[in-house]
Amino acid sequence: MIRNIYRLGVVCAILCPALMARAQRTHLALTPPMGWNDWYRYRCKVTEAIVQANALAMVKSGMKDAGYTYVNIDDCWQGRRDAKGFIHPNSRFPNMKALGDYIHSLGLKFGIYSSPGPKTCAGYEGSYGHEKQDAETYARWGVDFVKYDWCSASKVYSPDQMQTAYRKMHEAILSTGRPMVFSLCQYGLQAVWQWGASVGGNMWRTTADIGGDGYERVMFYGLQQNGLGKFAGPGHWNDPDILQIGLGHLTHDEELSQMSLWCLLAAPLLAGNDLTHMSQATREILTNPDVIAVDQDPKGIEGHLISQEGPLEIWAKPLEDGSVAVGMFNLSLSKVPMTVRFKDVGMPNAVEVRNLWARKNLGVFRGAFPAEAPRHGVVLIKLQPR
Ligand code: GAL
Repeated sequence: MIRNIYRLGVVCAILCPALMARAQRTHLALTPPMGWNDWYRYRCKVTEAIVQANALAMVKSGMKDAGYTYVNIDDCWQGRRDAKGFIHPNSRFPNMKALGDYIHSLGLKFGIYSSPGPKTCAGYEGSYGHEKQDAETYARWGVDFVKYDWCSASKVYSPDQMQTAYRKMHEAILSTGRPMVFSLCQYGLQAVWQWGASVGGNMWRTTADIGGDGYERVMFYGLQQNGLGKFAGPGHWNDPDILQIGLGHLTHDEELSQMSLWCLLAAPLLAGNDLTHMSQATREILTNPDVIAVDQDPKGIEGHLISQEGPLEIWAKPLEDGSVAVGMFNLSLSKVPMTVRFKDVGMPNAVEVRNLWARKNLGVFRGAFPAEAPRHGVVLIKLQPR
């Protein structure tokens, strides 16, 4: 009898965390998470008031209605640990529980940030040695999303311990019983896409930081995603980093390019701009329902490169209803005619074409669709067999 109980215990110790992880994965992030992250706009100047104002603006601007949900605080919120080792926020965040309640009262979800190392990238308290306590604290504050950023973890873990370090926090989160999206951030090291889901990741950064440099860097990282699609799907996504839209580094056509590419990639859509002062153009790019539907397609297939001719690239993403979204990207410095042949994207000869940015049906085309893509721009269409 005792032996059997012991055996059961051993089996459960092995299987239960895996089963719990699986159960949690089955209902979290079924489509790529959408929300906002403060880092690129506010860095370490972020405050409770800034987060509250952006959360409210997410509702008022129509972003919530468009599907944006997570309000994520990045680095620099941490204060000191108390005598028992529990983390407290710094003076810029007087009451995290109240902030979480406020975000929830708007019908939104609350995200936070930490590191598996002793310090975060900006030098604040990390979770090393306090994983369980931190997860418990986040659960008490009502946290729904944890970004876990490698940073100083390289000082305390060897590279082959990386997966263990991430699994440790995931298990700590699971043991709280509160569902939290687990977002791995380690800049794509060690081909994270191959193991991110197995350590509990709902998304994992596949690249270094995308911010600050403009179009070349955004497209370099975005187009580098080709081939990673087989590792992503409902519950676990490749994450090429935060949207740069509305931050002032991209032209209008360049912003359309990033949004189009991220949606074709089924990437998490985390806006990085000041939502309280958005231009109409920025708002329209972030909230276009036809374009967001490509990203949020329930099938969760990541798009891939169909053809490349120098700086001209055509990408396609199959959608649940049998249609295909196609992006024709022109990375060159002048406008260029581009053509997508329907057979190249698995379509029959006769196809109904819809322009997704204009939200207009363009009629039935046979064999191919010719278009003109602007300099650093994109033509984003949806092809439906006739
Ligand atoms: C970087 C991370 C950024 C941001 C920053 C905060 O390592 O890639 O997304 O979180 O740290 O210090």
